[in-house]
Amino acid sequence: MKIGIDRINFFTSNQYVDMSELANVRNVDPNKYLIGIGQSKMAVIPPTQDVVTMGANAADVLIDNENRDKIDFVIFATESGIDNSKSTGAYVSGLLGLKHVRSIEIKQACYGATAAIQLAKGHVSLNPNSQVLVIGADIARYGLNTAGEPTQGGGAVAMIITKNPKILSLDADSGFVTENVMDFWRPLNHSEALVDGKTSQNVYLDFFNQTWNEYKNKTGLTVADFKAMLYHLPYTKLGVKGLREVLNEATDSKKIELEREFEAAKKYNNQVGNLYTGSLYLSFISLLENSNDLEAGDRIGMYSYGSGAVGEFFSGTLTDNFKSQLPKINLEERVQVSIELYENMYQNHLKNDGADIYLDYSNDKSKYILIGSKNMQRQYSIQ
Ligand code: CAA
Repeated sequence: MKIGIDRINFFTSNQYVDMSELANVRNVDPNKYLIGIGQSKMAVIPPTQDVVTMGANAADVLIDNENRDKIDFVIFATESGIDNSKSTGAYVSGLLGLKHVRSIEIKQACYGATAAIQLAKGHVSLNPNSQVLVIGADIARYGLNTAGEPTQGGGAVAMIITKNPKILSLDADSGFVTENVMDFWRPLNHSEALVDGKTSQNVYLDFFNQTWNEYKNKTGLTVADFKAMLYHLPYTKLGVKGLREVLNEATDSKKIELEREFEAAKKYNNQVGNLYTGSLYLSFISLLENSNDLEAGDRIGMYSYGSGAVGEFFSGTLTDNFKSQLPKINLEERVQVSIELYENMYQNHLKNDGADIYLDYSNDKSKYILIGSKNMQRQYSIQ
């Protein structure tokens, strides 16, 4: 039985900062951010959006009368959770009106959404008529004026996992690895991640090689079998480095093809920044929408990495009608905000300090919004 991604959608805020402007204010050569890191814009998440609202905003259009009653499992992957006990899955199921479902939250840094997909795949293989809503949503926060700042961003990707999927059929085998590494972590009560940037880059690339080699050994496939290679993209330059690891195994024509497809796959990530759990899947959407060369039957390789650290290389095959199922992402409609306004929004995110607060949400036209906190309970609204 074929199982995979039947529907997919992406949500981010309608505001961004220009990376050249951020570089100028930080007294950094803009080419460090534009070329060295490989980012041109960075999504700015306003206080009226958190992972729950972004996840609901991404998932909303994927649910209709055709599949509403078939969805029986909601798996929300995030590393920017809002509660130590109650799951974001329970919050989002409530907002979306999904009642007869199991709802959970899953965590392993940026790897979480891939773990969720694997769990969903197992669930559908045991219950072929079930559909699973998988969400990966995060806000990447390292702190103003830190080395990690240009690799921030945020957003959500939502997917419906089913049998006979309309977009991507997942292959059976994958290569995976876990090592207990301190490259990136966020202690309880910290709203910013702590990171050893250089170690994280090294482990990311080392795990890519380990999982890619394991995948090849298990499947007998080689780079020649792939139309495109996708990567978790905390910033696009790291994906370029990941791609280089396989290019020396490719013929000249395959090398050109993989580089061309990667250009399409990094386009949206270059304009949004890191969304942790959703980054690999935003890159998949970017490939689907920006490549002119994809055909049904093409095999796509995917490298998922979550600090701490877990890596997995897996693959899928594009299905017959994948082109009819693509979301329509328009990042051009977003509004550029000043660095001052970005800093202001960054500092005024909702804090879990117990205070009742009511947020001004007049500028946020999203369907699902966070409007404040009362008695230490987040208050959400649908508009
Ligand atoms: N023009 C062009 N390029 C320039 C330049 C200039 N003027 N100045 C510097 N550069 C280049 C550097 O040569 C370097 O390129 P290489 O990596 O190819 O050598 C690049 O710009 C970055 O420069 P630095 O290494 O000096 O940058 P930095 O020390 O300020 O930090 C960072 C970079 C480590 C990525 C930092 O932003 C960071 O810690 N980010 C958060 C951690 C992260 O994203 N890690 C990724 C792996 S972990 C993961 O994937 C999980 C996750 O999502 C967090």
